[in-house]
Amino acid sequence: MAVSASPLPRSILVVGSGGREHALVRALRASPAQPRILCAPGNAGIADEVTCIPVAADDVAGLVALARREQIEFVVVGPEVPLALGLADRLIEAGVPVYGPTADGARLEASKIFTKRILLQYGIPTAAAGVFGEVAPALAYLRTRPLPIVVKADGLAAGKGVVVAQSLAEAEAAVSEMLEGEKFGTSGRQLLIEDCLFGEETSILVVVSGRDYLILPTSQDHKRIGDGDTGPNTGGMGTYSPADVVTPALLERIEREIVRPSVEAIAAEGMVFRGTLFVGIMLTPDGPKVIEYNARFGDPETQVVLPRLRNDVLAILWAAAKGELAGMTLSVRPEHALCVVIAAKGYPDAYRKGDVITFPQTLPEGVSIIHAGTAKNSAGQMVMNGGRVLGVTALAATLRAAADQAYAVCEKIECAGKYFRRDIGARQLKRDIK
Ligand code: AMP
Ligand code: GLY
Repeated sequence: MAVSASPLPRSILVVGSGGREHALVRALRASPAQPRILCAPGNAGIADEVTCIPVAADDVAGLVALARREQIEFVVVGPEVPLALGLADRLIEAGVPVYGPTADGARLEASKIFTKRILLQYGIPTAAAGVFGEVAPALAYLRTRPLPIVVKADGLAAGKGVVVAQSLAEAEAAVSEMLEGEKFGTSGRQLLIEDCLFGEETSILVVVSGRDYLILPTSQDHKRIGDGDTGPNTGGMGTYSPADVVTPALLERIEREIVRPSVEAIAAEGMVFRGTLFVGIMLTPDGPKVIEYNARFGDPETQVVLPRLRNDVLAILWAAAKGELAGMTLSVRPEHALCVVIAAKGYPDAYRKGDVITFPQTLPEGVSIIHAGTAKNSAGQMVMNGGRVLGVTALAATLRAAADQAYAVCEKIECAGKYFRRDIGARQLKRDIK
């Protein structure tokens, strides 16, 4: 670390309530600096470890007031919505260092059209696309493109604004719904029609601080609800790290063609970006291409990436927030991490709530349970309270061992309404056998 590094903060506020935030809280608690940690609003699992304050993640004024009242020295923002609403801007104005970009940087996630313009302008590989605000020209463009074709609502839509249409009829329906339907509200006023990319996806999380950056260990998400990547898209049903499909040579190419130009573009555009740039990449036969940027840590990517770091995560996030990232390096464990998300039956549509969860008495070495949508009922029992409920993460010498350990614990967690995919990591496990 640079000699001039600022002393680590003694009090931290983590904003958010999902598995990502629980994983962040765990990593920050492990810091040798032993900071006092608060979380807003948190969940029942986080509340077992640190004090949770019932201020919603999108209550920007409430969060700034909380940070002041509690003399918070550092805020780590989990989700995208408060960033898009300007939480980082308001905290900086209030003199509180924050990990997470200001609203202009958060636009890289909040507007797919803005992002596409940046990608094209700076020559960063991505799918060809057209932007439309009217139905007729959008339909005319659709007829000129090959199928399948991707229709994307412009704004934040909690993972529901993307339709990969297999037929022209499906694409036309998506266009009409996004431009004219009620479901997307203002986020659907403009849309992007994008050529479909083929290949495997990978999540590249980058800690960015101005022109300095650190690429975190690679991972792969499983976005669809069903085994074999079937059914609707979700927030993510499981992850593993490293994603060996990203060979060292490929990672070098991703850094050269995507990460470095992205960081340069962000700086050149004058954005204040001190946070995670999450690059969703499709590994196509023509090389890696950007599917999307997110302006935050991934969920459940965080649950497998952070446990593989030997570094003090607090020191990294703090250095990024303070503009002191230059010269820092990562030390990554050789073990494989795998996270299985336990969701509530019905998710990503209407799902069950309130079912009691019973946990195994002990957990095997290397396995941890992260909470997402959990709450306590009036009897003090842990219950399901969200679409994605828990994440079971295992860290082991091989991916096979990590999968076996995580799944053994998933089976032992008792909950009538639990659902999880049985094939997290399967793509890589099949490759490992060959
Ligand atoms: P996004 O909200 O942009 O992350 O999109 C959600 C998911 O839709 C991605 O993770 C991909 O699986 C899929 N997707 C988005 N854009 C494309 C594309 N151009 N080609 C193929 N799949 C895509
Ligand atoms: N797991 C994907 C995301 O966080 O957007």
